[in-house]
Formats: sequence, C-alpha cells, structure tokens
Amino acid sequence: MALDIVIMAAGKGTRMKSALPKVLHRLAGRSLLQHVLDTGAELGADRIVAVTGHGAALVEAAVAAPNLHFVRQEPQLGTGHAVQQAAPLLHDEGTTLILNGDVPLIRAATLRALLAACGGERLALLTVVLPDPHGYGRIVREAGAVRGIVEHKDADPEQHAIDEVYTGVMAAPTRLLKRWLAALTNDNAQGEYYLTDVVALAVAGGVPVVAAPAPTETEVLGVNSPVQLADLERRYQGARALALMESGVRLADPARLDVRGELTCGGDVEIDVGCVFEGRVVLGDDVRIGAHCWIRNATIGAGTAILPYTHMDGEASGIEIGAGAQIGPYARLRPGARLGDEVHIGNFVEVKNSTLGRGAKANHLAYLGDATVGARVNYGAGSITANYDGANKHRTVIGDDVHVGSNCVLVAPMTVGAGATIGAGSTVAKEAPAGQLTVVRAPQVSLPGWKRPVKQKK
Ligand code: UD1
Ligand code: CA
Repeated sequence: MALDIVIMAAGKGTRMKSALPKVLHRLAGRSLLQHVLDTGAELGADRIVAVTGHGAALVEAAVAAPNLHFVRQEPQLGTGHAVQQAAPLLHDEGTTLILNGDVPLIRAATLRALLAACGGERLALLTVVLPDPHGYGRIVREAGAVRGIVEHKDADPEQHAIDEVYTGVMAAPTRLLKRWLAALTNDNAQGEYYLTDVVALAVAGGVPVVAAPAPTETEVLGVNSPVQLADLERRYQGARALALMESGVRLADPARLDVRGELTCGGDVEIDVGCVFEGRVVLGDDVRIGAHCWIRNATIGAGTAILPYTHMDGEASGIEIGAGAQIGPYARLRPGARLGDEVHIGNFVEVKNSTLGRGAKANHLAYLGDATVGARVNYGAGSITANYDGANKHRTVIGDDVHVGSNCVLVAPMTVGAGATIGAGSTVAKEAPAGQLTVVRAPQVSLPGWKRPVKQKK
C-alpha cells in the first residue's frame, strides 16, 4: 500500500520578522523543512508532496528528498486548502501522512507509531497534553471518544480549558481523506478551510478516529519566532551532547557544543567548550579538541591534539589529519589539507590543498598552498608559497628533510630537492638542488661613520 506524505510549508511565518521564508531557517545547519523531509524519507514514502506558497521558488530550490514533488498554494486559504492542492498527486489507495514544515524535530519512530494507529483504515491524530494549550486546536471528546478538533479562535470557554491539543500531524486513509477534503467549508472564525474539520467528517461517516500521544513535547514543537527557533536548537544540541557523552565522549560542558551535521568519535575523545562541528567530522581515538575550535568536513587521526581557536573548513574536498599530530592554537586549515602523522601546524599558519609528510612542521605565521611537502620538513616562520600568478595556481614541491628558513617566498611552480636548505629571507623562483644551501639575499653592508639625519632648525 502506498505511503504518501504531505508537508505544509506555504505559510509566511510573520513572527520570524525575516525576509527568508520560515521553513528555510536553519536548525543545526539544516533548514526546518529539510529536517522534516529527511524524517519523511526515513519512512520510505512513495511520494512526498511539499505545499509551498510564500517564497515558493526559494523554498523549492533549497531542499531535496527522494520522490519529492511540489505544489503551490496561492493564495493560502488554510491548512485544509493546502492539503487540497496536494490531493491530485496522492495515490488513490494507501495512507497519507500530513506533516508541518515548521515542526522540525518530529521523529520517525513517532510517525511509524501513528501510521500503525491509522492502520490504513482509521484517522489517526498525533496529540499532546500541554500545560498552556493557548492557540492550539483542542481535541473534543465525548464519553472518551474523539468527536472533533475545535480551533482556539472558535472554541467556547469550556473548550478552552481542554489541555489535549492537536499537533498538526495526522495519518489518514487517502481515499477517505480526498473525500473529506472535498467537503470542507470555510464557515469559521478565521474564514479558512481547516484541515482539522476532517475529524468531524470522519466521525459523521462512522470512521474510527484515534488520538496517539506524542512521546515527547520537543518533537511536536513548532517554530514561529526566533525565540522558539533558538529554544529548539538548544534542545536538539542538548540531545546530541547527551548521546555523545553516553558513547564515552568527554565534553567539558554539554551546553557549549554545537554539532551541525554528523560527528563520529572514537574512544577517549575530549572536547573543550565552545566547539562547532559541521558536515561530516570523524575524530579518532584519544583526539583532543581545544576550546573554541570550528571544524567542518574533516577526519582527524588517533591521538591528535587540536589546540584552541583552530579553524578548519574542508568544504567539498575535506581535510585529513594523521595520528599524533598537533594543530594550533590559531591554525587555519582549508580544503584539501592532507597532513601526515605527527605533523605540527602552529599559530597563524594557513594550509590549503597541500600534502605534508610525516613529522613535517610549520609552527609560526606561514602559508602553504598547492604544495607537496615531504617528511620531516621544517618550514620556517613567515614563509609562504607564492602559488598564484594572478591567473593560475601552481604547485610547490618540497622534498623530505628540507629546511626552509624564516621569511622565505617560494615562487611556484618550484621544486626544492630533498635535504636542501633555503636561507632565511630568500625569494626562490628556480629549482633549489637537493642537499645544498640556496640563499637569495642582498649582501649585507655596514657604513662606518654614517650619521642619522637630524631635523634642521629654521
Ligand atoms: C494548526 C491546526 C491546529 C494545531 C496547530 C498545531 C488547523 C486549522 N489548525 O493551527 O489545530 O493545534 O496547527 O501547530 O490546521 N499552512 C499552509 N497553508 C495555509 C495555512 C497554513 O501551508 O493556507 C501551513 C503553515 O505554513 C504551517 C502549517 O500549515 O506550516 C500550520 O499552519 P498554522 O497557520 O501554523 O496553523 P495553526 O493555526 O497554528
Ligand atoms: Ca502554527
């Protein structure tokens, strides 16, 4: 039997006070709508229909999922009207699950339970009991059985006291849902087509309605304002931190960690405060991450220490660091940095698209771009590879055991043979032969009897 998912994402999100459509605001690095789509994809939906409206073109370009279709809802005449737009794309038989684009933390397990409650023949509503139900649709029961949902604005004082509310998530037999959608009217306080009116239609038609309670409040919370977005972000990060600690990772402070992607850790990993991990980050056994590091798309080998304030952005090509290395403090690694075991990168050193052999060191104020650096090379303070001629990038190749003195410029394309030494302050543009000292430096002169100029008196 087909499983179709409809995600309502046409609303403006006025309370965000933002030019960006609400469902494109990010939680843990992913848009709200993308969170919902990823969860929908976990359920193996045959078709996902996202209903867009406000900022439709932006929204449609920004998200992706298997079997995803978009329908536009313009103007937006209510949640029932939104699902009506999706109805032609739904299979005739099977089940339809309706989700909200601004409720990002809903879990697949909860939705599976809701689908089981639906069983392809009942209308199943995901509900939650809230201490403050203000604004929500209330679940109206008679003798325990669900009779309908009344919207806050349409409810009488007695109904306002009901604390069991509709979360905005339901599962229904598609054939019946299409029939109910066609029968909706907008005769209510807001003049909207309410999706929630399908409940009374089901009851009238003798179709059983079941209310399935959400296991946690967090997963049914919606985002309507920056305050709510930040609240959900912290709840989400708190859960990630807890899971990491339960797997043995030692966090200096679980409240000061941000994981915006996938963080995989070996044994005995320690992470100090204020670190941000984005994309795919893999930390080997015994890795230590110092305070306030920012790391994206990187693989770090066992026993390596990343010292405070290090910035590493692997972008698309990634960063790889071997075992027993020491990076930072204040280091900057960029895409394509491939550092061997026991490499040392120190403060204010930038490495981009370069490979460093085992034990190579660049400890202070240096730039290595488009370079291949051999084992045990010592790359002096203030030295740079001049890899860009204004039009093209060129490579610098530095052999094993080379010593590059301080403040050198290696003008690429350029090769330094194994064991060579480059004298401090040299600008080298030709090959530097293996095993020799190459030095390019104006001769030093000292002028005896020279006097500093003095200011002339008028
Ligand atoms: C809705 C429910 C309410 C429930 C609450 C849970 C209805 C009538 N009411 O109320 O019972 O307690 O959610 O959060 O369904 N949307 C569209 N097109 C529209 C209108 C809305 O796509 O024309 C989208 C919104 O972007 C949003 C979702 O549907 O993602 C819910 O809309 P919203 O206006 O927030 O519904 P509520 O009035 O809060
Ligand atoms: Ca809402």
